[in-house]
Amino acid sequence: MRKIGEGDKSEVFVLPDGRILKLFFGHYAELAPVEAEMSTMLVRASVDAPSVDECVEVDGRPGIVFGNLHEGITLSSDVRKRPWGIIHAAQSLARLHASVHECSSEELPSQRERLASEIESSDAISNETRDLAMRVLADLPDGTTVCHNDIHMLNVIVHESGATLIDWVLATRGNPTADLAGAILQLRFGEKPGGLVAGFAMEAGRAAFWRLYLRQYLSLRPVSREELLRWQLPVAAALAGRRAGRMRAQLQEHISHLQKGRHRHILEIAR
Ligand SMILES: Nc1ncnc2c1ncn2[C@@H]1O[C@H](COP(=O)(O)OP(=O)(O)OP(=O)(O)O)[C@@H](O)[C@H]1O
Ligand SMILES: [Mg+2]
Repeated sequence: MRKIGEGDKSEVFVLPDGRILKLFFGHYAELAPVEAEMSTMLVRASVDAPSVDECVEVDGRPGIVFGNLHEGITLSSDVRKRPWGIIHAAQSLARLHASVHECSSEELPSQRERLASEIESSDAISNETRDLAMRVLADLPDGTTVCHNDIHMLNVIVHESGATLIDWVLATRGNPTADLAGAILQLRFGEKPGGLVAGFAMEAGRAAFWRLYLRQYLSLRPVSREELLRWQLPVAAALAGRRAGRMRAQLQEHISHLQKGRHRHILEIAR
């Protein structure tokens, strides 16, 4: 088998028969059955997500062999290789994400419960921010829409027959606007889509990408702008706890802007 990628939790290989194997690192072994079960629920919800062909063990590490996942390249590599394709790439991601939000599930874990527990345990925020984020979250509406909750450029695989969202381990049922808010934060503050030589061009590429993505998403699905802004604080507070380094620092700065009333309605709700 040939290694084609690596994430925080796993290494990814292509098997001689062309199927994709995600082999978890030992310290994330318990996530293999979680991701496998998640995939099964997503298939039941008619989501176009990688489906589990078989669960295997290689050198004592658990793995999932996906049946309908093709070898491709990440959206990040795609945009680096073909920066002129940025508009098409951002619009494709928005279409893909919006199509996920057409699906619903009663059996996926609850987004609200996940966010609440991530905010409670986040070591990236102050207690004041934690309380505010929890109060804002309590006022926001729930849902049963399928949400990926970890949309970023390394979790999208571009291949011959289109693009596929991978890494569904954080999927929930919930409110699609929360998922949209999370995607915007990750595209805005996460890995750069650039590779466009100079730092300035890279920043510009990233700023363009999330705006193009958002504009396209809004053209496909109705979203309350107010609600999208309100989701930012709880989602950013939860995400900051999951991220490290530069991205965590940028999220902390963003959270502090939100709290300073740049988005007045968040403070109004919390009063
Ligand atoms: N079908 C594929 N074709 C090419 N590369 C792939 C494919 N599937 C996964 N990869 C590569 O493997 C990486 C890790 O996959 P995945 O996101 O599922 O693992 P993870 O360990 O859960 O990631 P994370 O770092 O987000 O925790 C991807 O970011 C990508 O670079
Ligand atoms: Mg990943």
